Amino acid sequence: MTRYLQIVVCAAGPAADVTQLIAAATKQSWTTAVTATPSALDFIGPEAIERLTGHPVRSTYRSSPGTRRSLPTADALIIAPATYNSVNKIALGIADNYALTTIAELIGRQVPTVVVPFVNTALATRAPFQRAVASLRDERVRIIGTEDGWEPHPPGSGNSRQRDFPWTAALEAATRLADDMPASNTHRG
Ligand SMILES: Cc1cc2nc3c(=O)[nH]c(=O)nc-3n(C[C@H](O)[C@H](O)[C@H](O)COP(=O)(O)O)c2cc1C
Repeated sequence: MTRYLQIVVCAAGPAADVTQLIAAATKQSWTTAVTATPSALDFIGPEAIERLTGHPVRSTYRSSPGTRRSLPTADALIIAPATYNSVNKIALGIADNYALTTIAELIGRQVPTVVVPFVNTALATRAPFQRAVASLRDERVRIIGTEDGWEPHPPGSGNSRQRDFPWTAALEAATRLADDMPASNTHRG
């Protein structure tokens, strides 16, 4: 059975490596598509992503408000890398770009969702971020964090931490969550 994995990338260094996630997911029979925040477009190579997924990278509404097509169905959602900015916005329910609107709706539909933050220690200790993580966990969003061996990095060390980004842990978590969904709770149609 082919399942559909929606990937959202935010504007941080590891976005350039999202092809690793696509390749791993494809190997495990997931169909994938990538949505980027507007700022993330500067971090990715859309052509390589489109070659691997077979779908254009989405970052804006397809057409004018009121005429856009309904969201594609998804069996799982991975938001990676998730910036400080977007984690805070997602938790608050802010939907001021296409990627955040997609996320808000998929979480609302209880699509299994995994978030992999890529933030430094200075940002990670801020109260708004801590509240955002707790609030998303309350909504049954899976946040990859300390218990997965994924820690915020010291400020200025993002480039070297990028190669350790836990794409595999994210995919495993999403697969487990999707496997655990009751058959009646599909998101088709
Ligand atoms: C080169 C560069 C690297 C950045 N790295 C990070 C990062 O690792 N984590 C983060 O939260 N923000 C990072 N930022 C800041 C975000 O890109 C910025 O907050 C942006 O508004 C996030 O937009 P988005 O959440 O809509 O993707 C970086 C910005 C630049 C220009």
